[in-house]
Amino acid sequence: MSFATIELAREGRVGIIRLNRPQALNALCDQLVAELGSALDDLEADENIGAIILTGSEKAFAAGADIKEMQSRGFVDVLVTDFISKGWERVATCRKPVVAAVAGFALGGGCEMAMMCDIIIAAENAKFGQPEITLGIIPGAGGTQRLTRAIGKAKAMDLVLTGRMMDAAEAERSGLVARIVPAEKLMEEALAVASRIAGFSLPIVLMAKESVNRAFESSLAEGIKFERRLFHAAFATEDQKEGMAAFVEKRKPAFRHR
Ligand code: CAA
Repeated sequence: MSFATIELAREGRVGIIRLNRPQALNALCDQLVAELGSALDDLEADENIGAIILTGSEKAFAAGADIKEMQSRGFVDVLVTDFISKGWERVATCRKPVVAAVAGFALGGGCEMAMMCDIIIAAENAKFGQPEITLGIIPGAGGTQRLTRAIGKAKAMDLVLTGRMMDAAEAERSGLVARIVPAEKLMEEALAVASRIAGFSLPIVLMAKESVNRAFESSLAEGIKFERRLFHAAFATEDQKEGMAAFVEKRKPAFRHR
């Protein structure tokens, strides 16, 4: 399948999606969001893919929703078409792990899209922010919600109300970013992380991701119960037998993935 606003590649068991609208700093126009959705559909359905990387360019992961596309829209239009809901949440609903490899600007919808991923790896030049307030709107793809859960109320209020950017170091200190690497090492690191994940048992990886995400949606007691059920279910897989046998026999496990 060919795309106009993204590039899709496969490297081993890793699917790599690169946002590719350099003339607009990867602003997330409707076409890009639709193409991103179909690339994720492809990769999710592909049994040879165990993890996905979402990345942009050296200058921008994504500078937000496309302001030029939004500029003339009105309340009734965005309400009736449910603008942002459709397509945008596709990254968050992906069941396979998604690693965001972020260099340059991750602003507005770009920051929100990175936060829909499971692990954010940032280049040293990465900049995160929710500048919507400067445009006379508020974040609309989870910025007030996921950011607050990720970095707490004090920092989230600071970013959302002032529209300022935070650099990679502050983002890591705040808990938004998992790792920072030199810009030239970004894809190497993201690929190493995604390949490592993709080498594990896919059903177990799916369970682990689902269980961590449950922490955001439930009380501690419910979350623990959910985790326990999945933990028990892991013992029904061949990969549990293989993983434990390999440990005891002092060899590398050969997971079946399915
Ligand atoms: N939408 C549309 N076009 C954008 C864009 C966006 N979000 N961000 C950048 N561009 C375009 C610029 O208009 C410019 O195009 P032209 O050459 O045709 O003028 C091109 O990309 C390069 O941008 P700049 O010349 O501005 O580059 P810069 O290096 O001087 O500045 C920047 C970079 C600070 C990121 C600046 O482009 C900027 O502030 N962008 C907008 C960031 C923003 O406000 N994002 C939030 C969008 S709203 C949103 O995302 C809502 C939501 O919650 C879903």
